[in-house]
Amino acid sequence: MDSLTIRTPDDFHAHFRDGAMLSNVAVFTARQFGRAIVMPNLVPPIITTEQALAYKSRISVALPDSLQFKPLMTSYLTEDSDPADIERGFADGVLTACKLYPAGATTNSAQGVRNIERVYGALATMERIGMPLLIHGEVTDPDIDIFDREAVFLDRVLSRIISAFPALKVVLEHVTTSDAVEFVESSGPNLAATITPHHLVINRNAMFQGGLRPHFYCLPIAKRERHRLAVRRAATSGSSKFFLGTDSAPHRVGDKESACGCAGVFNAPFALESYAKTFEEENALHHLENFASVNGATFYDLPLNEGTITLERSGSEVPLTYGTGVDTVIPFHAGETLAWRLKPRE
Ligand code: DOR
Ligand code: ZN
Repeated sequence: MDSLTIRTPDDFHAHFRDGAMLSNVAVFTARQFGRAIVMPNLVPPIITTEQALAYKSRISVALPDSLQFKPLMTSYLTEDSDPADIERGFADGVLTACKLYPAGATTNSAQGVRNIERVYGALATMERIGMPLLIHGEVTDPDIDIFDREAVFLDRVLSRIISAFPALKVVLEHVTTSDAVEFVESSGPNLAATITPHHLVINRNAMFQGGLRPHFYCLPIAKRERHRLAVRRAATSGSSKFFLGTDSAPHRVGDKESACGCAGVFNAPFALESYAKTFEEENALHHLENFASVNGATFYDLPLNEGTITLERSGSEVPLTYGTGVDTVIPFHAGETLAWRLKPRE
């Protein structure tokens, strides 16, 4: 097969940032995807509908109209979030979902949730109106090993949320363990999960290959090989409970290559090519369209995109860097040649 045409895909988890970074990175997502769920963990975070609306227009300004890309906005849940504002934002079509960050779990999550019961009012509203809850599923207790934080979250937090709000739609974001895969598979239809390109490709050794490799450091952190294989099986299985969410998370090179480097993999420029590589290696290219373009939209109750995109087997050379000076960012697969290449959208 030398060419693969699929319905235009969506990215159900992307970090666009703000300011100069937004102007530099959003176009990579908008070139490949019809829509993207935009994460709200800015500084300060996007908490209210009004802030989401203002951020949405900054994103539109950063993108050429010709791309016909639709950002889907999210609000960052805090213990002070106002359920009435969330309900209005959803009803007005400004907000698509809310994001739950346990406080301290990841980048800019300090204002996140410490006690899950403090957001039960918001969750009850979201359950009633059919608004999805997106979860960064890691506990933050310092006594829990970083490689166990996702698995422990399933038992301690996620099961409680699901039993308290059985009709709430929940997306467990960026799953990295066989525990999470099995949890999602064995739960009802209101729980689904996104999977990133990088967690399909790297295991935890990648961070330490011949030295410390900060560009493979992200959260949840990459796990053992057996977990990567479980995540690959889930993504490529054809199950409608798993869908595409890149978690593309750019940081300036100086913020990554630092004594206390930021978490995040910038995979937006060649995200589809990376997923295509994994699906081809698993003999599952026939499942790529559902994973990338159907399962997520169906779970979110969004119409499927109308257009198509085409991947050709003509090779993509991934640049070593994007941007210049302090704004340089290093992409996932830097310096590699990937077999597939996305034909530019007409
Ligand atoms: O690696 C990550 N980077 N994980 C997250 O959850 C957040 C993200 C970021 O915003 O940089
Ligand atoms: Zn993220």
